[in-house]
Amino acid sequence: MTSATRTQVGIIGGGPSGLLLSQLLQLRGIDTVVLERRSRDYVLGRIRAGVLEHGFAELMREAQVGERMDREGQIHEGVYIAYDGRRERIDLHALTGKTVMVYGQTELTRDLYEGRDRLGGKVIHEAEDVRPQDLNSSHPYITYRDGSGPHRIDCDYVVGCDGFHGVSRQSIPKDKIQTFEKIFPFGWLGVLSRTPPVSSELIYANHERGFALCSLRSATLSRYYIQVPLSDTVQEWSDELFFEELKRRLPEEVASSMVTGVSIEKSIAPLRSFAVEPMRYGNLFLAGDAAHIVPPTGAKGLNTAASDIYYLYHALVDHYARGNDRGLESYSSRALARVWKGQRFSWWMTKLLHRFPDDSPYDRRLQQTELAYLFSSERALASLAENYVGLPF
Ligand code: FAD
Ligand code: DHB
Repeated sequence: MTSATRTQVGIIGGGPSGLLLSQLLQLRGIDTVVLERRSRDYVLGRIRAGVLEHGFAELMREAQVGERMDREGQIHEGVYIAYDGRRERIDLHALTGKTVMVYGQTELTRDLYEGRDRLGGKVIHEAEDVRPQDLNSSHPYITYRDGSGPHRIDCDYVVGCDGFHGVSRQSIPKDKIQTFEKIFPFGWLGVLSRTPPVSSELIYANHERGFALCSLRSATLSRYYIQVPLSDTVQEWSDELFFEELKRRLPEEVASSMVTGVSIEKSIAPLRSFAVEPMRYGNLFLAGDAAHIVPPTGAKGLNTAASDIYYLYHALVDHYARGNDRGLESYSSRALARVWKGQRFSWWMTKLLHRFPDDSPYDRRLQQTELAYLFSSERALASLAENYVGLPF
């Protein structure tokens, strides 16, 4: 026998998007249930993004989960781009008046779970066979199963925050959405190691052997990435080989001061650009990776999820508190306007910094000229900086 409950907003996916939305809504008196396919430990075991835009950090504070981020996160005022054996600093703060926060997605997700626990929020883990239903009616519902049997949650709205492989987007009839996609012919091999970071600010490196990125999580935790062919496997890359290759792609002054060590985590992520339009079908709204993916080069994935949540949160508050549906009606177009700017910037940074297997000598000259132009023009640098710190919500 199916057990039935009711909530105002049913949220599918307990990653950063779903948790942040449920936390913000509950603080405004709106009831939610979050359905997550995995266990809490599994979700917290995923090492992903590390750079938060100013606007995201603000949203965490508004959700009353920003305390540890403000204590342990690092404010960064600049980043480096390395190329041609040298390293140039981009002074984000001088160019934009803004900064970014370096704070891992794992930590942020932990803070959101603790925030949900504090408020007694309903987050159901290991929910199997989650299915949004009757999305085009005014009585949508979600069905799922757990150890105790089948369940049904009736809601006013369903929000799909279930990432790229989730069920929400797949529940929309194919002829009701348009998809846009670009797959890049390489991936990023990422390593987390308990070593002091080689640089206190991030270094994005363009090198003839391929892209490299030096990032960090704290004074004792480093996060490094190198571009690899999609055919490579994690098993082929011992820690020694990884650090050897990373050092080769960095200027000598950086490589020579790198402390190498044992990896805590090592994984390969493919690079993909993807977006769907519209981000709404009936009473289903899509947010975050469920609706769009970017290659990680501009650190925009998680940050674009945050702007979706910002728009949807305000739209739902306007609906419930003021009976005003304009925010819900315009959610998709407002979110997509910013999504596409994130797509553009991520594509541009990826093109600027990676080696593409089929690049011609002409393409290579253009890339060198793009870098030369960037560092000869305050306006070009300001454009990079305003995108990196985050365009306004
Ligand atoms: P997710 O974090 O994907 O969360 C979705 C949740 O939904 C998951 O917990 C999943 O278990 C759950 N779910 C899925 N299907 C179902 C279902 N059927 N029923 C119930 N629950 C379901 N961004 C950056 O800015 N920098 C990076 O370095 C970076 N690295 C990344 C590396 C990888 C391997 C990946 C996949 C992404 C990376 N990103 C990065 C992107 C960033 O992590 C995402 O943009 C961010 O996680 C989006 O959050 P989300 O909550 O929308 O989706
Ligand atoms: C990190 C990841 C990114 O994609 C990026 O652009 C910057 C930092 C990170 O994991 O620290």
